[in-house]
Amino acid sequence: MTSERAFTLDDTEVEFEPGDSLLTAALASDRYIPHLCAHPDFSPHGSCRVCLVEVDGHNRPACTTAAQPGMTIRSDIEPINVMRRQLLQLLFVEGNHFCPSCEQSGQCQLQATVYTVGMTDLHYPPLGPRRELDASHPDLLLDRDRCIGCELCVKASSEVDQKHIFSLGGRGTHTQLIVNSEHNQLGETDMTPDDRAAHICPVGVILFKTGNYAQPTGQRLYDQQPISAIGNHRAEDVDLPPTP
Ligand code: FES
Repeated sequence: MTSERAFTLDDTEVEFEPGDSLLTAALASDRYIPHLCAHPDFSPHGSCRVCLVEVDGHNRPACTTAAQPGMTIRSDIEPINVMRRQLLQLLFVEGNHFCPSCEQSGQCQLQATVYTVGMTDLHYPPLGPRRELDASHPDLLLDRDRCIGCELCVKASSEVDQKHIFSLGGRGTHTQLIVNSEHNQLGETDMTPDDRAAHICPVGVILFKTGNYAQPTGQRLYDQQPISAIGNHRAEDVDLPPTP
């Protein structure tokens, strides 16, 4: 019998708490729904659309859709996975994501999600953005060409660190990460390697200048098991680079 506070996800019952989104309820029940911009510590942003699911026949983002009793959710079905692959392909061509040469390979949520949904090519022509690389900070580096616009660093810096160091500027494919300082340079801010914002990037934009290969590639979180088996467990929780 279906619980009064439960919905069906791909034919399995998922119970939820009041206020849960479809995504938070699914992850709390160890049911993986692909997602990028959502984070358990912050309000959902709803920008990446990778968490798209079919809700009673309509496509909705799981991170911003409130769980309701009796909903029928389909996530791991081919039409939804096709759309996820297209969204991920667009993210890939809008940035520079050369995984084999990226310091975050094996602990990048974008790379791990691509593997899980079976994206095997770019499909679209790469746009080859050239956004400014910022090496002005003594301990941290910003590679803006990898930004997926999730705003997690913006939220972490303002809501946790209380520093308001980051924002997003521009529109569409010209959107890029802005440093709120006179010359848009991280070295002009009081950001430190201990800030939450320094650890929250799900891709490889905010990097430490030292210690990135302390854990060798091939032995990292998503090298060892697919992100679908880890759910809410994120690389930032287990793989913090040593403070320089
Ligand atoms: Fe839901 Fe990005 S995780 S829109």
